[in-house]
Amino acid sequence: MGSQPVAAGAEAYNYSVVRQFSVMTVVWGVVGMLVGVIIAAQLAWPALNFDIPYLTYSRLRPLHTNAVIFAFGGCALFASSYYVVQRTCQTRLFAAPLAAFTFWGWQLVIVAAAITLPLGYTSGKEYAELEWPIDLLIAVVWVSYAVVFFGTIVKRRTPHIYVANWFFAAFILTVALLHIVNSAAIPVSMTKSYSAYAGVQDAMIQWWYGHNAVGFFLTAGFLGMMYYFIPKQAERPVYSYRLSIVHFWALIFTYMWAGPHHLHYTALPDWAQSIGMVFSLVLLAPSWGGMINGIMTLSGAWHKLRDDPILKFLIVSLSFYGMSTFEGPMMSIKTVNALSHYTDWTVGHVHSGALGWVGLVSMGSIYYLLPRLYGRAEMYSKRLIEVHFWVATIGIVLYIAAMWIAGVMQGLMWRATNADGTLTYAFVESVKATFPYYVIRLAGGILYLGGMLIMLYNCLQTIRVGKPVDARVALTVAHA
Ligand code: HEM
Ligand code: HEM
Repeated sequence: MGSQPVAAGAEAYNYSVVRQFSVMTVVWGVVGMLVGVIIAAQLAWPALNFDIPYLTYSRLRPLHTNAVIFAFGGCALFASSYYVVQRTCQTRLFAAPLAAFTFWGWQLVIVAAAITLPLGYTSGKEYAELEWPIDLLIAVVWVSYAVVFFGTIVKRRTPHIYVANWFFAAFILTVALLHIVNSAAIPVSMTKSYSAYAGVQDAMIQWWYGHNAVGFFLTAGFLGMMYYFIPKQAERPVYSYRLSIVHFWALIFTYMWAGPHHLHYTALPDWAQSIGMVFSLVLLAPSWGGMINGIMTLSGAWHKLRDDPILKFLIVSLSFYGMSTFEGPMMSIKTVNALSHYTDWTVGHVHSGALGWVGLVSMGSIYYLLPRLYGRAEMYSKRLIEVHFWVATIGIVLYIAAMWIAGVMQGLMWRATNADGTLTYAFVESVKATFPYYVIRLAGGILYLGGMLIMLYNCLQTIRVGKPVDARVALTVAHA
């Protein structure tokens, strides 16, 4: 990159690790979503595994979830948190070599996952499938991440800690705790271990982890992005700083207790299930408080939405956040869950959060970041960002609408009984009835992946031939 112009702020801040994570966000996004498209196709046409063990659904599904959550989402979180903490604390990242280690270590974790999961090595815990040697590496990388992040906070040159950093900090600390507790296991060989917990305790710890992975990995960190990139892109201050503090404490306190809603009607004691349900209902309030704080940041500047595609990504992501955090509490009500559980409704809920919220907010943030990181005046093509936005949004709507209809239909078919008490439908009939919806979901997934490919092209062109920002202006910005 010798011929690169000087990036704005390059003197004052460590951008190289942010650049690396930003580019890999886009690369892993393409990979993870491609695997998503493949498994979506396999659900419609199971023969697409070609009888090759490495390509079976059971092995590719965890590859998909690990790739999109930890590789795509994880790289976006590393990139944005490292950028935001430096800019808002007005200081360089603490311990540059350790920051570089977090990049290479995290990529190693991802490559190890991409090799071991198709080979069939798994601990069998959802979103924590990786075997113990990789778990140890994750723990080391994560602790290093915490040292870099909190070290930067400690050496900050600003009197206060901007709210985005509160969210990033909670995300980093909590994920460390969740990962270390849930992954405790007794190894029997290099590739096999058994959980340290058994029976219903194992289930409870797994879903305490699983739900807080949603709350802290897929939510708190991305809220950190929201609190920085929306005000920046909209050029307005956050709607209410006071609300953001209430939002923070209420959200992190409430999330911790909601995990049992994943275990309704199981061997978990009934009172524990009810606690999970009640806290999930309460969770609606902080979730919507945060969403409103983000959206209202635009008040008085709504017109900007019309011709700023990056802002469209950021604001529409919040609408999907609002939608999935309304749907989640409803699904946690036991009687609703009796219908939705085991059906594709859950998968629809997951992807309205994952594609709509996590995906769009990450994409918007990377579009904001990339030109600044590479000293470019703007992204190579604004038009392509607009196309990406619409292709992705149509893809999400197709995906989640198909899954909602399929899910409710499945739930109703499974519980339908005849007058004599026998089941109205055989299971296979519900599978047959679901087929068209699986094809629609696949079409939605292909659109979403198509958008990501457009983004990859736009990013590479920005880096290669984007219009450079005037170097003198860059230095002024750096020292402003
Ligand atoms: C092109 C885009 C995508 C497609 C086509 C896709 C497709 C799929 C499919 C077919 C499944 C399996 C559903 C089942 O077991 O019945 C799945 C599961 C899942 N995907 Fe995606 N996906 C995409 C993007 C994403 C993204 C970006 C994320 C997260 C940021 C994500 C997170 C998940 C999660 C968490 C699950 C597990 C859901 C559950 O256990 O209920 N996906 N995806
Ligand atoms: C107020 C917030 C939320 C609540 C109360 C909530 C509640 C729920 C409930 C009740 C389920 C179904 C459990 C089952 O029947 O097995 C569920 C599943 C899930 N939700 Fe949410 N949800 C919320 C927000 C979100 C968001 C924003 C995302 C993603 C970014 C998300 C991702 C997931 C995932 C991945 C699952 C599937 C877990 C699995 O079975 O593998 N949720 N959620």
